Order: sequence, then C-alpha cells, then structure tokens
Amino acid sequence: MSITKICCIGAGYVGGPTMAVIAQKCPHIQVTVVDLNEERIAAWNDENVDNIPIYEPGLSDIVAEARGRNLFFSTNVEKAIDEAQIIFISVNTPTKTYGKGKGMAADLKYIELCARQIARIAKDNKIVVEKSTLPVRTAEAIKSILDNTGNGVQFQILSNPEFLAEGTAVTDLLNPDRILIGGDTSVEGQKAIQSLVDVYANWVPADKILTTNVWSSELSKLTANAFLAQRISSVNAMSELCEKTGADVNEVARAIGMDSRIGPKFLKASVGFGGSCFQKDILNLVYIAKSYGLNEVADYWEQVIIMNDHQKRRFSNKMVQTLYNTVADKKIAFLGWAFKKDTNDTRESAAIYIADDLINEQAQIAVYDPKVSSRKVLADLDYLETRTSEKNSANVTSFSDPYEACASAHAIAVLTEWDEFIAYDWQKIYDGMQKPAFVFDGRNILNRVALESIGFIYQGIGS
Ligand code: NAD
Ligand code: UDX
Repeated sequence: MSITKICCIGAGYVGGPTMAVIAQKCPHIQVTVVDLNEERIAAWNDENVDNIPIYEPGLSDIVAEARGRNLFFSTNVEKAIDEAQIIFISVNTPTKTYGKGKGMAADLKYIELCARQIARIAKDNKIVVEKSTLPVRTAEAIKSILDNTGNGVQFQILSNPEFLAEGTAVTDLLNPDRILIGGDTSVEGQKAIQSLVDVYANWVPADKILTTNVWSSELSKLTANAFLAQRISSVNAMSELCEKTGADVNEVARAIGMDSRIGPKFLKASVGFGGSCFQKDILNLVYIAKSYGLNEVADYWEQVIIMNDHQKRRFSNKMVQTLYNTVADKKIAFLGWAFKKDTNDTRESAAIYIADDLINEQAQIAVYDPKVSSRKVLADLDYLETRTSEKNSANVTSFSDPYEACASAHAIAVLTEWDEFIAYDWQKIYDGMQKPAFVFDGRNILNRVALESIGFIYQGIGS
C-alpha cells in the first residue's frame, strides 16, 4: 500500500518531533498530529515557531519548513483517524498511581482509549503503530479491542518503538542507529511492515531498518532503556567508592570506556538519571518479570532504580553535611532544573528531588535554568505533595539571570549539564557569594582546578 496520509495521536516529546521529521523527509505524505490538549496544539501552531511547546535544537526549523505544507497539528482526533492509512499512537504511558501495579506498572488507560476511538471511527483498513513504549504483549490487547468492533475493518498492529533521546531528538531522528519495526508474521502483517519500512526508507538506509515479531520489538525498547540506565547506575555506584578511596570516577570511566567491549558512552557519573523514560520503563520491566514469577530477574533490574534513588539522596545529604550540617535559611543556587541539557523537559529531574530534600531542611532555593519556567519549577515540587504549594513558593524562587540566582548564595548546585554554565564568569559569581563559597557539581562539568584557584570549595561526583 502506498502511504499518503499518516496521523499521530499524541503531540508530545515523541509525537511532535518524530512526525515533524517524517513530514520533512516525506513531502508526499500528509502528516497530522492530534492531541486532546488544546493549549499544546495551539502552541504547535503558534505563528512564531520559537513558541512551539517542545524545545529541541533544530526542531523549530523543521516545523517551520513542513508546517502548513504537509505537517498539521490539530485537536480534531476523529477526522485525522478517519483519513489516515497509518495511525501512530504516541500517547503517554506513565507509571500507574493507583490500583494493581501502583508505582510499578505502566498505566495503559490512554492507550486503550486510543484503541477504542480508532475502533469506533475507522471505516477502512488501517495500520496501527505502537510508538509509545509499552509492556510486552500490549499489541494483543489493542488487537482484541480493534478486532471486536464488528464493522469488518481489518487492522494490522505494528510495534515501532522510538529511541530518540531528548536534547538530541532531531539528530537522533535524522540519523537513527536503527529503526525497529515488529509485526505479525502473516502475509498481511508482512505487508503492513513493508508499508512502514517504505516510509522510513525515504531517509534511513535499508541496513538500519530492522524487522522482528511484535513481542521482540516491544520488549527490545524496555531492554534498551534498562541497559542504558544500568550503565549509569553502575558508574554511579563506583562514584561512591571513588569518593572513599581517592580514585577519580572520571578517570575510571575513561579507562574502562577505552575497552571496545565496554565503550565510552553512558559512563558519566552524575547526581542520578532523570527523564520520563528510564525509571518508568525499568519499573515496568520489574513488574512484568514479577508477574511471570521471575523474582530474581525483577530484583536484578530493580537495583538500578534503588542505586539511582540512593545517588540523589546521597547528593543532598552531602550538601547538608558539608554546609556544617545545616542549610536552614541559607540560599542555595541551583544551576539547571531540566533533567538534561538542551531540553525544557523536567520529568523526574534529579533537581526536583534535591530541592525537595533541601526544602525539608528549610533551605531557600534559587533556581536558574535557561529553558524552564518558574511556573514549571513550582509545579514539579507541588506534584510531589510533600508540602503545601504556599510553602514551596516561600522556599523557591526562579531567576532569569544566573548571576542574580547565585548572588549572596552559600552554595551552588550544578544539576543540569547546560554548556553555558562552563562559560560563566566564575570569579564574578564567587565575589557575589557568602564565604566560604561552595560548588556541588552534580554533573562534573566545571573545571575543579580553576574554581579552587578562585577560592571555591568544590565537590564533584566521585572524586
Ligand atoms: P508526552 O506526555 O509528552 O505526550 C503525550 C501526549 O499524548 C500528551 O500531549 C497528551 O495530551 C496526549 N494524549 C494522551 N491521551 C490522548 C488521547 N486519547 N488522544 C489524544 N491525545 C492524547 O509523552 P512523550 O514523552 O511524548 O511520550 C510518549 C510515549 O513515548 C511514552 O510511551 C514514552 O514512554 C515513549 N517515549 C518517550 C521518549 C522521550 O524521550 N520522551 C522516548 C522514547 C519513547
Ligand atoms: C532515554 C534513552 O537514551 C532514549 O534512547 C529513549 O528513547 C528515551 O530515554 P532520555 O531520557 O531522553 O533518553 O535522555 P538520556 O540521554 O538517555 O539521559 C537520561 C538521563 O541520564 C539524564 O538525566 C542524563 O543526564 C543521565 N545520564 C546520561 C547520566 O547521568 N550519565 C550518562 O552517562 C548519560
């Protein structure tokens, strides 16, 4: 089947950038991204392309090129489903906050709603693509909902997980390590796979497009995230041992990364990984393993999360200890709130948990992040429900100028690795601070020797 119309349900961090790149690379295909969130769709349609709701380097240029040509953002979900030959489901699949599997399993209610809506609206055969990250065997449930509509429409379900990382989404989408497409082994299933392969083949080399059965594809996504997060927890575990022994975790990471079997990537010790995926997907994996009675498998992967929580807590404890065991009424400047550089996403950012711990100790937090609004900072803290919103507002202030954020602070915590932090006038920052002036570098990005020569007391991770 030659594809001319695609729809994507969910205009978030995955749906938006992924569809923008498909539209750019396939001008012959009309791509419509739909979402229930009117504010988000309005922002995607904002005349000023710099106001699109997701910050990703290079994304606004692509949206500017394709929007209105063959890329459309809309709240009219039904129309888009009706017209499309391929429907991507790219809605959120957060950790369940209620009922069975609370705190572990993926909440599939948004997925099921999409499946029911597609079943209700579709009048001709459709290919439905799981773009969201889903537990292995979810396609079975989607298929069951779709096949029981009784209106004779044939559906093929494909799994096509997304491997982009935020902050590098555009380059990841333009030059993916691989595209994974899982489908049914039947003739119809193979035809559906080929239709999606043909879409990606517009810019992805054939040898990077991998096809598998549906279950392998679904499970590969959870496995990839578990392996990546495991490397970070492994190096973070070593960072604590380094601090006790005089070894330097940066040197250890470099030494082991030169072993071609280990490789240099994802070995950066940090205050702990954040983001919307790693924790959610590993918890989901743990839940799935437990549900099959595989307790050793579940315990093995759960340790990655336990280590990450420990690393965050260890960082805030160390700050309090170093600051003479009290941070009450002290101003602590946070450089960075996003979970990594080059994104405005703050989901599960380590900064939120460090702030929460320090507010418990009655610190005054001054936040500067180049892309995160003060409203978002407070919303993130309120979401934890540790204390009232008024109390959070009383203890946290956001600044649009980093030097103001650091002025008269007792300490600075670097919590995101934004490049601009490295280029700051650190002498000026030092001059404006309370003495002794401390820097807790949760990303190991600053030049320790230079800062110490200015007079800072510097503490990195793992050295
Ligand atoms: P997101 O929260 O940014 O976006 C999801 C969007 O779906 C929201 O805007 C929401 O309003 C919309 N939505 C929910 N239900 C809907 C419905 N019934 N109809 C229309 N719109 C609906 O989430 P995201 O970060 O884009 O993640 C989406 C999926 O992709 C998740 O399963 C996630 O695990 C996976 N994923 C995310 C990343 C990432 O880096 N963020 C990477 C790979 C995979
Ligand atoms: C991740 C996966 O990388 C991506 O393939 C998947 O599609 C979605 O989940 P993302 O969470 O966007 O992507 O960013 P990633 O670069 O993986 O970073 C996640 C967290 O780990 C960040 O907080 C980052 O700062 C941290 N990290 C990463 C480290 O602490 N050390 C590292 O060496 C690498």
